[in-house]
Amino acid sequence: MKLPNYQEARSRKKEKVTIEEYQLNNDLKNIGSCKTYYVKTYGCQMNEHDSENIKAMLEELGFEESLEMEASDLIILNTCSIRENAHNKAFGMLGRLKHLKESRPELIIGLCGCMAQEEGVIDEILHKYRQVDFVFGTHNLHRLPTILKNHLDSKKQEIEVLSVEGNLIEGMPVKRASHHKAFVNIMYGCDKFCTYCIVPYTRGKQRSRKKEDILKEVEQLVKEGYQEVTLLGQNVNAYGKDTDSKYCMENLLEDVAKTKIPRVRFMTSHPWDFTDQMIDVIAKYPNIMPSIHLPVQSGSSRILKLMGRRYTKEEYLLLFDKIKEKIPNVSISTDIIVGFPGETEEDFQDTLDLVEHCKYDNAFTFIYSQRENTAACRLEDKTPLREKEKRLYRLNDIVNRYFLENNQKLIGQTVPVLVDGHNENGKTELFGYTDTNKLINFNGDDSLIGKIVSVKVTDAKTWSLDGELVE
Ligand code: 5AD
Ligand code: SF4
Repeated sequence: MKLPNYQEARSRKKEKVTIEEYQLNNDLKNIGSCKTYYVKTYGCQMNEHDSENIKAMLEELGFEESLEMEASDLIILNTCSIRENAHNKAFGMLGRLKHLKESRPELIIGLCGCMAQEEGVIDEILHKYRQVDFVFGTHNLHRLPTILKNHLDSKKQEIEVLSVEGNLIEGMPVKRASHHKAFVNIMYGCDKFCTYCIVPYTRGKQRSRKKEDILKEVEQLVKEGYQEVTLLGQNVNAYGKDTDSKYCMENLLEDVAKTKIPRVRFMTSHPWDFTDQMIDVIAKYPNIMPSIHLPVQSGSSRILKLMGRRYTKEEYLLLFDKIKEKIPNVSISTDIIVGFPGETEEDFQDTLDLVEHCKYDNAFTFIYSQRENTAACRLEDKTPLREKEKRLYRLNDIVNRYFLENNQKLIGQTVPVLVDGHNENGKTELFGYTDTNKLINFNGDDSLIGKIVSVKVTDAKTWSLDGELVE
């Protein structure tokens, strides 16, 4: 049994990261034959992509994917720790699975992802959730086949979670959720340690993949006909900063654009590492989408300091305005936390002022959630939850107004759309995303799915557009 340890997870050792090729032992290959699996994913795109690896590993073991969780032989919960409600959802699901296992004792239950990296969670699993058969963490995804086999042999709870990241694993199999859009990891972990954030603990130190490995993956996707890649990392702008090489995000973006993949996106950006050169590259290449997620978190420089964000409101606005000026037609989205410890009405007003200036195209807004062991836990927090909820409503009223206003400006324009699929409410209604990452619904034939088409915007709602296909 290997358990996580926060003290170790916080450490940032200087050792060089080495690269290891994923290999599956022959004797593991059939352990899942005639069995089905179901993977339930919580959290961000990083987790979604990890689940694509998990599914492919399970299929190499002989398991088949089931669309029905309750009927499958193996259920894996890929969990998220970012806020308490993500936690509660996963624990709620574990409660449900307890009943399922009582009626079907042969059911195998696994847990992985960010929650697996938390000391407190593992403690609970050891004491309260004995129905969980195995646990692996974010640093040893590739060990899933072995850990599962160990459980099948021992019939005991197998917990293998590393506190400190190991090697970078290349060549993991992947079962992509889409045939035209793909996630490509460019780096793992984060060294920023924003004071509210659990990610540097659950995902470890920053480790960039080699550019050759990334470009090979993108080139392969181009050959397979993929239309879009999203370069993924907790803090993509810091790509390469953990290596000796001078090759950084702007170079990578340019090289990925040169592969001629029709659409390049990237997330998530920290304003601190967003360089002028990056802005120039985005503006230069038409296949780098004019859509940038630029989390601000707060509009108060005092709160930003307490959050450890390394920029002031003014510095953020300078960057924001530069991006708007240099990248034609760019859409910018953000993340905002309200009710950070010590946030006063005045601080909150600063956030509202910033939002009035930025008029974001999209914003994800959250109430601060205290996370185990993070630095913000030590700050005094006197604001009652009721007041924080009121602030969230007030903020949402304003951001929603701008989503709608920005969408309305598009009425009458013809925009490029990558068609994703058809809506559940009718087979003729397709949906897709514009270059600026706006959801748009329009009528068309299924044969358009996976293609980039031109659509004229006819109507605008707060969270989506309606349009007509332009022949
Ligand atoms: N409480 C509330 N929101 C958080 N986020 C990260 N940590 C917390 C927390 N402890 C938000 C940030 C981040 C997004 C992914 O989640 O806004 O950008
Ligand atoms: Fe959740 Fe963050 Fe982990 Fe993603 S990296 S799953 S958002 S805790």
